[in-house]
Amino acid sequence: MDLITGVFKPTGGQVAYEGKDITGMKPHEVAALGIGRTFQLNPLFADFTVLENVSASFHLRPKSSLLDIYFNTPTYRKNEAYIRDASFEILKVVGLERVKDELARNLPHGYQKMLGVARALATRPKLLLLDEPLGGMNPSEIDFTLKSIRKTRAQGATFLIVEHNMQSSTSATASSSSASARRSARARRKKSGKTNRSSGPTSVANMLLEMKNITVHYGKSLAIEDVSLSVPEGSVVSVIGANGSGKSTVLKALVGLVPLSSARYSSRRRR
Ligand SMILES: Nc1ncnc2c1ncn2[C@@H]1O[C@H](COP(=O)(O)OP(=O)(O)OP(=O)(O)O)[C@@H](O)[C@H]1O
Ligand SMILES: [Mg+2]
Repeated sequence: MDLITGVFKPTGGQVAYEGKDITGMKPHEVAALGIGRTFQLNPLFADFTVLENVSASFHLRPKSSLLDIYFNTPTYRKNEAYIRDASFEILKVVGLERVKDELARNLPHGYQKMLGVARALATRPKLLLLDEPLGGMNPSEIDFTLKSIRKTRAQGATFLIVEHNMQSSTSATASSSSASARRSARARRKKSGKTNRSSGPTSVANMLLEMKNITVHYGKSLAIEDVSLSVPEGSVVSVIGANGSGKSTVLKALVGLVPLSSARYSSRRRR
């Protein structure tokens, strides 16, 4: 709890978003900048339809007042029509338009995950973080999800994905990086000393996100050390690593859920 509530000051490593230093920002401040994520979304509304699930995310930022809703005013009706249309457009982007009237609980696993992405898109993020979006999927669900991610990216979304399924992640990333060069990033773990490669395009004018030399401890134990990665606007960047190698921690560090350790702090703790 000390870590999450920011008792340790973030003094090591740096996170820049749209060229602005966001190191040490609180999770809600990071979310307000337009960084969406699926790993912390509320569970799907199982008894809502697919379309209703996406509409519900729009309602997180209501435009109608309670009085508008109560009296069913023209403002309310106009907003509702807008939300329905916009939700349907998002379903088309992720490839779920044909199941818009299905109950969420009846969807296959892969479709449910993409519905999570659709709900995140409804909050209009510039950057979407996906924590193991392919976890527990069968090959045809993986295929559907990768196609959806590529399609969504083609509409202008930027993705940072952490995965341990290297083959599929590479496939999602490979199709996205035609415009630019690639670069690697690493995530190391103290005990195993393993290096996890992440790949993605770089040296592009519009660098949406840059993480430099990030180190995170949970109490005394080192979770990630000296991780650097860059996410150009409009790309899909995958960070690939084995279980427990620190993938989720990279995303948590990015959105301010765990503080970064100073170099001094980490060397003292590692003795
Ligand atoms: N809240 C926590 N407190 C203490 N240690 C933690 C905590 N969360 C994660 N860790 C440890 O930090 C390391 C990195 O964990 P992390 O969850 O980032 O890995 P991961 O790559 O996402 O793993 P997985 O593939 O299982 O999702 C692991 O050794 C894990 O045990
Ligand atoms: Mg994880």
